[in-house]
Amino acid sequence: MSGDARTIDIFTALSKRKKSFADILNRQKISGIFSSPPYVGLIDYHEQHAYAYDLFGFDRKDELEIGPLFKGQTKEAQKKLC
Ligand SMILES: C[S@@+](CC[C@H](N)C(=O)[O-])C[C@H]1O[C@@H](n2cnc3c(N)ncnc32)[C@H](O)[C@@H]1O
Repeated sequence: MSGDARTIDIFTALSKRKKSFADILNRQKISGIFSSPPYVGLIDYHEQHAYAYDLFGFDRKDELEIGPLFKGQTKEAQKKLC
């Protein structure tokens, strides 16, 4: 399962993918999420992992990537993150 961290509804997305796990989450809820956020303006993650999209047939979602290198490191680019 993958999605835009800013907008995904984890419970709905998971219930479409693995209902039994979604049912457990709905009952027990989520206590916390550990995250390693993108290094803003330093890496194009889709390009870095292009082989994986190709190998596994994942759809690329370049336009949803937070702070990719190709959008730069300017204050203006940073303001557009959220
Ligand atoms: C510093 S890396 C962390 C990688 C991860 N911890 C791992 O071990 O594979 C930041 C990750 O954020 C992802 N990312 C960028 N924009 C995102 C978005 N809108 N929603 C969810 N993840 C995003 C990137 O694709 C990248 O894999």
